[in-house]
Amino acid sequence: MATSSPTPAGAPLVYEGVSKSYRTHFWQRPFVSLDGLEMAVHPGEILGLLGPNGAGKTTTIKLALGLLFPDRGEVRLMGRCASEPASRAEVGFLPESPYFPDDLTGRELVEFAGRLHGLESADRRRRAAELLERVGLSEAMDRPLRKYSKGMVQRAGMARALVGHPRFVILDEPMSGLDPIGRREFRDLILGLREEGVTVLFASHVLADAEMLCDRVAILDAGKLLAIRDLGRLERERRVLRWEVEVLGGGEVAGGELIAERGDERLWRLPAEARAQEIVEAVAAGGGTLLSLTPQRETLEDLFLRTLRGSDGDRQS
Ligand SMILES: Nc1ncnc2c1ncn2[C@@H]1O[C@H](COP(=O)(O)OP(=O)(O)O)[C@@H](O)[C@H]1O
Ligand SMILES: [Mg+2]
Repeated sequence: MATSSPTPAGAPLVYEGVSKSYRTHFWQRPFVSLDGLEMAVHPGEILGLLGPNGAGKTTTIKLALGLLFPDRGEVRLMGRCASEPASRAEVGFLPESPYFPDDLTGRELVEFAGRLHGLESADRRRRAAELLERVGLSEAMDRPLRKYSKGMVQRAGMARALVGHPRFVILDEPMSGLDPIGRREFRDLILGLREEGVTVLFASHVLADAEMLCDRVAILDAGKLLAIRDLGRLERERRVLRWEVEVLGGGEVAGGELIAERGDERLWRLPAEARAQEIVEAVAAGGGTLLSLTPQRETLEDLFLRTLRGSDGDRQS
């Protein structure tokens, strides 16, 4: 099982040996959705919870919010047992594919959430307008949600999640159904939260989303945590597939294949096994000037799939 680094003080969310099964019919055997989860979200980080559909991401999130109770183990949210309502006071949540009554306007949606947080009427109005502007809905805030695009509904949901000034925000597939521009806007919103010291946990089955904003990723599959890594380290674990070498002038580069040529500049490709130092020497021996030497690595997607298939021996965080 994946071991994670020691739980830091003030961790907003901690799972200790948490298992959860569903029983769809009483005569059926329970289906294990989460199996012995050990994980801690560190204060101030953006943690991506990644895994294919059915991996247990939403179950993990629902356990954090007290929407489900673990069969075994303990979930602690903001230092309290996750079943205590007080644990959620400083937590914002955007559910997966949220459904909001679509005759409400964006402003009404957020103001209503403000009421649940006990904000006074004037505060509520100010806070709603400020948040809707922040998520780029200032023009649309008085239109009913049924006239919103999917991306606009997600953004209104984000404004709603932020109404109570949360210190910890949990987002379930926040980017699903968004176009590339919508994804980028959402990414900037999430990065903005981290700037303010807000901790973010978000679930996604899309690796690219995590790649562009996470500090760490937790990889979940079939209810098991396979790995929890910092993304910088994951980047370094990506295997080199080949080298691309730009050379000015000169002749052959031993062991290289000529890929492209423009004037005096040539692009050579060398196999993964070549050492950087050998390449530098080969270029010099051919009489050329080295302009650049770039390792072409496997994509994070490839590394992710390798981890899921279990061909990855080291699973420590
Ligand atoms: N209410 C439920 N009743 C029965 N099975 C469920 C229920 N919710 C989720 N599951 C099952 O638990 C597994 C994990 O689901 P989920 O946590 O929603 O995964 P993810 O969010 O990663 O797609 C899936 O196999 C799913 O079918
Ligand atoms: Mg889900």
